[in-house]
Amino acid sequence: MKTITVDIRRAEPEDADAIAGVHEAAWRGAYSGIIPHKALTGMIQRRGGAWWSRAIKRAASILVIDMGGKVVGYATLGRNRARELKQDGEIYELYIRPEYQGIGLGTRLFTAAREKLAAHGLDGLVIWALEDNQPAIAFYEGAGGRDIAEGVEVFDGQAIRKVAFVWN
Ligand SMILES: CC(C)(COP(=O)(O)OP(=O)(O)OC[C@H]1O[C@@H](n2cnc3c(N)ncnc32)[C@H](O)[C@@H]1OP(=O)(O)O)[C@@H](O)C(=O)NCCC(=O)NCCS
Repeated sequence: MKTITVDIRRAEPEDADAIAGVHEAAWRGAYSGIIPHKALTGMIQRRGGAWWSRAIKRAASILVIDMGGKVVGYATLGRNRARELKQDGEIYELYIRPEYQGIGLGTRLFTAAREKLAAHGLDGLVIWALEDNQPAIAFYEGAGGRDIAEGVEVFDGQAIRKVAFVWN
């Protein structure tokens, strides 16, 4: 019997293309029909392997979930950007490849990201989700997040509502 190990680790420069692949598949899966097609395609094109390679080299905090040598998810994290919220930390992005969703990997990645923020001395965290992204809203509610604030993100002139979840 073959054993597949699941490892959560810092992204390395050689992960750039794999992360770009996760980004494309997960964003198309989550946001087609929510974010206007042209804006979504533009965002995906900008975030190719070269963009991720630069982000990793700039030491941005990026975690990957590595399943038997294949990167199937990533999270980016750092300081909270919304001054009106008192939490220090933020998970900017948390994405799992569609074919690997629903088997507990998002929960593991979220826990690892949360621990990493705490290890950096950041107290509490925020995550924003688009209001129409119901699976993500259900996931953050299930993970014990409190929805505390609302905002708007504009894509190609179309305003889309977003919700902030916090953990203290
Ligand atoms: C949201 C996401 C990170 C969750 O990760 P995941 O690995 O699929 O989630 P898990 O398997 O760890 O599930 C944990 C809980 O979340 C909930 N959940 C996960 N996927 C769900 C879905 N599609 N619909 C409803 N609830 C869902 C379940 O309640 C599950 O609880 P259970 O274990 O009691 O069944 C992942 O599905 C994903 O990347 N989705 C697309 C991109 C996205 O929306 N990212 C978040 C952007 S803000």
